[in-house]
Amino acid sequence: MEYKEAYQKLERYGQLPLLKYYEELGQAEQKALLAQIAQTDFSVLEKGKEAGSHPAALEKEITPISVMQQPEIAARKAEFHQAGLAELHAGRVAAVLLAGGMGTRLGSDAPKGMYNIGLTRTLYIFEQQIQNLLEVVKEAGRWIYLFVMTSEKNHEVTVQFLKEHAYFGYQPEYVVFFRQEMAPATDYEGAVYLEEKGRIATSPNGNGGWFLSMEKNGILDVVHREGIQWLNVFAVDNVLQRIADPEFVGAVASSGVACGAKVIRKNARDERVGVMCLNHGRPSIVEYYEMTDELLDAVDEQGERLYQFGVILNYLFREEDLERIVKQELPLHQVEKKIPYIDTEGKKINPEQPNGYKYESLVLDMIELLPDCLPYEVVREREFAPIKNKTGVDSVESARKLLEQNGIVL
Ligand code: UTP
Repeated sequence: MEYKEAYQKLERYGQLPLLKYYEELGQAEQKALLAQIAQTDFSVLEKGKEAGSHPAALEKEITPISVMQQPEIAARKAEFHQAGLAELHAGRVAAVLLAGGMGTRLGSDAPKGMYNIGLTRTLYIFEQQIQNLLEVVKEAGRWIYLFVMTSEKNHEVTVQFLKEHAYFGYQPEYVVFFRQEMAPATDYEGAVYLEEKGRIATSPNGNGGWFLSMEKNGILDVVHREGIQWLNVFAVDNVLQRIADPEFVGAVASSGVACGAKVIRKNARDERVGVMCLNHGRPSIVEYYEMTDELLDAVDEQGERLYQFGVILNYLFREEDLERIVKQELPLHQVEKKIPYIDTEGKKINPEQPNGYKYESLVLDMIELLPDCLPYEVVREREFAPIKNKTGVDSVESARKLLEQNGIVL
């Protein structure tokens, strides 16, 4: 892109200050900045602003969804197990690790998966996740593809780390990386930050774009070639979750639905997890901050809360249904973040407090685009140990406790 075109593009979006230091840059840096301007989709800023941080809550019409709960799962365990193993054994299931996030709340510069949660030995988050998947590989008697989503910010270091550790025992040919896209990050007024004099501040565009990024990076060729029909998407930070577990796969596959969502019983009325429900009759997830008192307190005739099953970011999608919805736009969420930037004097600032927004689409918004979804209850003490923060709720400390309770030596 030439300077003139870049100028016009920025002018259209009111972002001309991004060229403030252009004249000071060397030729290579100038070229890189123009290329970045060419690649950046500034329209997300407008969409993000429209949506705000609490998109469309008011237009929702929430009703309860029926959840497959533990007693039923226990009663049909053998049936589900067998059905799931058949899918796995035939190579029709793959796992997708969402590891493109910045993990800013954990406060480490390295990718979250590289965090060592061990106490008397090293145990990296990636290692623990791979151990979980290896158990299924062993049972299925074949390798399961593990697609790993990274972002421009952590790609090289993630790939290098896993390679150095020999993929923690996983078969390298079955680990396939792809990069998600980036979105510009702004101050509270919507002005895009510069992170260097010749570099726009960008941030990974959320975990909702994973399937589109798989398509753009040619990963669907592998999926088609291998006859993969189910994709189990999971977050990097829940160190207890079962991945591609036969019973979940079997329950979803034999229910004939387009997707399954693992859910847990909330441990408090207002626990900060998205809750499964129907919205206008379609399976959906209502975010914790959209829950009104009325929804939080709604009960059935037995006094059971109607909206008490929270999602844990572990979904099984039927791939062919995703292809049908891949071109549909997901809502954008404006998320408050700490964004390193260059100030008006050209000094680099690493803020201690959030100073603006990044713009993200979320995997949970894909559910509503699909015709049906099976919410599948897992026992939270056995499958939910997310690591979001350093201490307190959903932290390294709480996850360690849960891992130990499950017999994992740290
Ligand atoms: P979180 O919502 O916890 O975001 O991600 P985060 O960026 O990792 O952490 P904070 O908010 O900065 O502390 C949930 C899952 O989605 C992935 C994360 O890697 C994690 O597995 N994710 C998130 C992506 O893959 N890409 C993104 O752009 C955002």
